[in-house]
Amino acid sequence: MVDQPLKENQILEVLRTVKDPDLHRDIVSLGFIKNLEIKNGTVKFDIVLTTPACPVKDQLKEECESKIRNLPGVSNVQVTMKAQVKGREGFEKAAVLPGVRNIIAVASGKGGVGKSTVTANLALALRKTGAMVGLLDCDVYGPSMPLMFGLVGKKPGVTEDQKILPLEAHGIRLMSIGFLTGENTPVIWRGPMVHQMIQQFLTRVAWGELDYLLLDLPPGTGDTQLTLTQSAPLSGAVIVTTPQEVSLIDARKGLQMFWKVNVPVLGVIENMSYFVCPDCGKVSEIFKAHGGEKLTQELKVPLIGQIPIDPQITETGDQGTPIVAARPESQTAKIYQMIAGAIAAQMSIVHMKDKETSAPVHIQWKVKQ
Ligand SMILES: Nc1ncnc2c1ncn2[C@@H]1O[C@H](COP(=O)(O)OP(=O)(O)OP(=O)(O)O)[C@@H](O)[C@H]1O
Ligand SMILES: [Mg+2]
Repeated sequence: MVDQPLKENQILEVLRTVKDPDLHRDIVSLGFIKNLEIKNGTVKFDIVLTTPACPVKDQLKEECESKIRNLPGVSNVQVTMKAQVKGREGFEKAAVLPGVRNIIAVASGKGGVGKSTVTANLALALRKTGAMVGLLDCDVYGPSMPLMFGLVGKKPGVTEDQKILPLEAHGIRLMSIGFLTGENTPVIWRGPMVHQMIQQFLTRVAWGELDYLLLDLPPGTGDTQLTLTQSAPLSGAVIVTTPQEVSLIDARKGLQMFWKVNVPVLGVIENMSYFVCPDCGKVSEIFKAHGGEKLTQELKVPLIGQIPIDPQITETGDQGTPIVAARPESQTAKIYQMIAGAIAAQMSIVHMKDKETSAPVHIQWKVKQ
């Protein structure tokens, strides 16, 4: 009993040698160690990460366990991995979406590069780690989410205080113009209508508490993007591109749009990067331009992942259960899972930088209620 304070110090000293590889800091100074208890040779503590999607979760746990086990007098180590997702410094003051900790926009310069498919699967991958996830389909011209989540024809409910209740599928809270207008109604919104619609989604939807709200944007840098960057406290953006040079030019424009309004670009996802022959396993790079790689090198943002061309992606998406939910064991689902982890890690890096500089990006979002 007399040694207990000393032992606690000893434990913390050892844990200080364990570094989070993304944040480049030790897990003690990052404040990850909680509820440390030492009793009769048993050492118990929680590691509270900044995201349940942390890609190195298992590695950190193992490293801690083995280092503590090697200490003299320790007979048993019990480490519990937990996570508490935080929002960006200063963002909690935003009146818009107060229960949503991180709003991440998925954008592209060019149409049809796979944004909606990527967004749906990333939402599912984040959910699978235990995070609370919402998805807002911001494509008022061509909403994809009703089909991808098997919700065609479904209508959202309304709360007592007249807010729209998001629909839920596969554990994801969803909102889309498609739920309000019906499948076959042509949506010809002019600029001002788009603005109004997006503002309604931001203020009139009862999202509740969410760790991540993903925004599926229409292509380009039009009215929707303008409204969102002005009205929503975006925590970060992810750019989807295909390897062809032609879409690269547009991706660059998309990326610069976020920079202009100080929204950090968490990285670039290259979609349809290669094809794996289902018979012989041979990998073919159909488009040899390596667009994603070139873009990230040129603009110094991380290439967070490359997704193969996989017919099962389309098949599962069209059937209302995207591949991460329908075939979680497939190689493609694992790639989405890895990308989700990398995005969550990038988001945590942004949070840490906010804290270090104690200068959150300028806050300019204002929404008329
Ligand atoms: N990696 C992939 N392999 C095979 N098919 C894919 C892949 N990614 C997306 N697709 C398919 O490509 C088509 C376009 O994808 P999606 O609708 O996600 O693109 P988008 O960028 O959201 O398009 P838009 O700009 O029109 O919103 C869909 O049929 C989808 O199933
Ligand atoms: Mg889309």
